Amino acid sequence: MQDMQTALSQQIKSISPKYFYDETGSALFDRICELPEYYPTRTELFILKTQADDIAQFMGEHADIIEFGAGSLQKIRLLLSAAHRPTRFMPMDISGVHLHAASSELQSVFPSLDIHPLVADYTNEWLLPESLPGAGRRVAFFPGSTIGNFSPNQARIFFENCAHNLPGGALLLGVDLIKSPDVLHAAYNDAQGVTAAFNLNLLTRANRELGCDFDLSQFAHSAFYNAPMQRIEMHLLSLKQQTVHLNGVAYAFNQGETLHTEYSHKFTMVGIQQAAKAAGLQSAAYWTDPQQYFGLIWLNIPHKQEK
Ligand code: AVJ
Repeated sequence: MQDMQTALSQQIKSISPKYFYDETGSALFDRICELPEYYPTRTELFILKTQADDIAQFMGEHADIIEFGAGSLQKIRLLLSAAHRPTRFMPMDISGVHLHAASSELQSVFPSLDIHPLVADYTNEWLLPESLPGAGRRVAFFPGSTIGNFSPNQARIFFENCAHNLPGGALLLGVDLIKSPDVLHAAYNDAQGVTAAFNLNLLTRANRELGCDFDLSQFAHSAFYNAPMQRIEMHLLSLKQQTVHLNGVAYAFNQGETLHTEYSHKFTMVGIQQAAKAAGLQSAAYWTDPQQYFGLIWLNIPHKQEK
């Protein structure tokens, strides 16, 4: 409520993409991942499948594995299967319901693995439990190019939190790479309109949960590649001059004004390595697909400096 109030009060209206993911939104996102135009999910899965053994070498024996966001169990299954006797798996997600459902499903696939869900918001400050006796390296997995949702400043804070919480460990990071604007545009403007439905669902959710009165027929999905900023931007575009209410307050939308809903930054290998390096994370390897659409980067985290 507070966040939507702030979003609508701003000169440039903008809300966090984390509000996409109610039940309907999560189901729509799963459908996006299957779309012919949406290459990131299947490309990252391809890289994981073909490189899992190599990645497992980097993880080492008895790794203590963390995943940010408990979205796709598919991806972590590939890593857990290849890993050399992992000690523990700790998925971190802000939604406890989703996290516990996902964790128990995973437990049935890996019955003897110690699974320890962490309900926390990794976009803010977070902490990890103590290492278990005999555990190997702490390896954090952040797939899906979800880091692309962050502003450069938020990404810096995320890397700094990793440096602080995973000394001597590593971060395996998935990033969507800069490519032809046509390919990028199509991925966020699919022919079936699933991405449009995903974007507009944010308004449906606001109407249901916050008692807003967004007229769904008077807002349109808008997604485009902002080349100089190296990001896809998603907006909800007001098709006419209109007023929306929240908590008894009226908020005006001009025709053509937008509610910004998401950034999805695209990266170069060098660019993301430099951003990580600024927080002390050292790139040791990367894997990509033949078209270089997507990258997985291995970032080593230094041990704490002795004073
Ligand atoms: C989950 C943030 C990686 O940016 O591609 C997909 C979300 N938005 N289609 C992305 C999304 C529209 C996705 N991430």
